[in-house]
Amino acid sequence: MKIFVVPATYNEKDNIEKFITTLEEAVFPKIKDHDMHILVADDNSPDGTGDIVKALMKKYKNLGINQGPKKGLGAAYIRTMGYAIDKLGADVVISVDADFQHDLQKIPDFVAMIGKGYDVVIGTRYSGGGSIPENWPPQRKAFSIVANIFVRTVFMKFAIHDWTGGYRAIRKEVFLKERSEMSEYNGYIFQIAFLHKAVRDGFKIGEVPFHFGDRTLGNSKIAPLSYIINVVTFVIATRIKELLFGSFGKFLVVGGLGFVVNFIVLKVLHDSSKWDPFWANLVGAGIAIFSNYNFNNLWTFKDQKISGFGTYIWKMVQFYATSAFGVIFIQSGTIFIGDKLIGPDILLHVGPLHVRYYLLYFVLGTGLLLIWNFFIYSKFIWKKTTK
Ligand code: GDD
Ligand code: MN
Repeated sequence: MKIFVVPATYNEKDNIEKFITTLEEAVFPKIKDHDMHILVADDNSPDGTGDIVKALMKKYKNLGINQGPKKGLGAAYIRTMGYAIDKLGADVVISVDADFQHDLQKIPDFVAMIGKGYDVVIGTRYSGGGSIPENWPPQRKAFSIVANIFVRTVFMKFAIHDWTGGYRAIRKEVFLKERSEMSEYNGYIFQIAFLHKAVRDGFKIGEVPFHFGDRTLGNSKIAPLSYIINVVTFVIATRIKELLFGSFGKFLVVGGLGFVVNFIVLKVLHDSSKWDPFWANLVGAGIAIFSNYNFNNLWTFKDQKISGFGTYIWKMVQFYATSAFGVIFIQSGTIFIGDKLIGPDILLHVGPLHVRYYLLYFVLGTGLLLIWNFFIYSKFIWKKTTK
């Protein structure tokens, strides 16, 4: 394979020469069966980093530089990785910091993981023996750790331990698939955004634990506060979009339709056919659940569509049981507990509004019911089978 190590540089004149010689003399000789290259992603560093690289290019024929205007770390990676893949025939690109915070001796491990069939290999500081600098002040350590736990939790992707790091090997197919969606992620947020899309598309992700060293020469370019804000906004906005436009949003639409079906059947049977409201509603609810089951099967969870008559019936029984359990124990149970805890039907005064307590329990109970149903539907009834 033709593999390009792509260090990003902005004002790294103190590091770049040693960085390149370390790769050339102490790392590449350990990788026997691949064609190794370096393509520096430099944003016209005013300190002359580019000139140092150009001088070294006379000595190392597998060394190149790709320069452009400064638009941020993500933009530099997209430009330079794109150049390596489109113009130089790279099969794999490896992003790495040029300030020695990424242990270059791990590059053979990244290459080996790609060789085993992983599509993206990420360096991890938070699992399997990876670590962050001992001497960082506690608040910096805490932020680094909490940020990654936050991302893993909001995305519900616990198997990936380091979402924000910049040490990664990426197969060309992944880059080409995700590139068009990356144009708005110019800064450090590139790391999370890219990995999120690769995971979404089912690429195989591997991890290489490493010790993240401290910077000894030059300065960090990250602006911590705006980075934190970017991370939180990106992760939350992405997750909300995913839920609303993904299966959760469809599940809500199907449920809303079921509510309307229930209401119409109740009204028709009661008003026109003079049924007892209890029985009229029971039939209405039964039909609504049937409608929910089928629309969820055909639309919400169409990627896991149930086929085969036997399975269809058996899953439908489970669906009715889940729905009934939810209404009886979760929704009505919440109303019951609330009523017992705070007392009977008292009015709650919120400004000019008078709300009956049981209505609050009803809203809360219905919210919990939706979560319960969605959880059981997606994790059990329409369980994803891993490909
Ligand atoms: N071309 C280019 N353009 N390079 C840049 C830019 C830019 O706008 N900004 C930073 N770099 C280069 C730096 O020169 C360095 O080699 C590398 O990218 C990392 O930048 P640092 O400024 O040293 O970042 P850090 O150490 O604070 O951040 C590290 O941790 C972040 C959070 O986990 C990096 O590993 C980031 O990738 C990571 O997101
Ligand atoms: Mn750094």
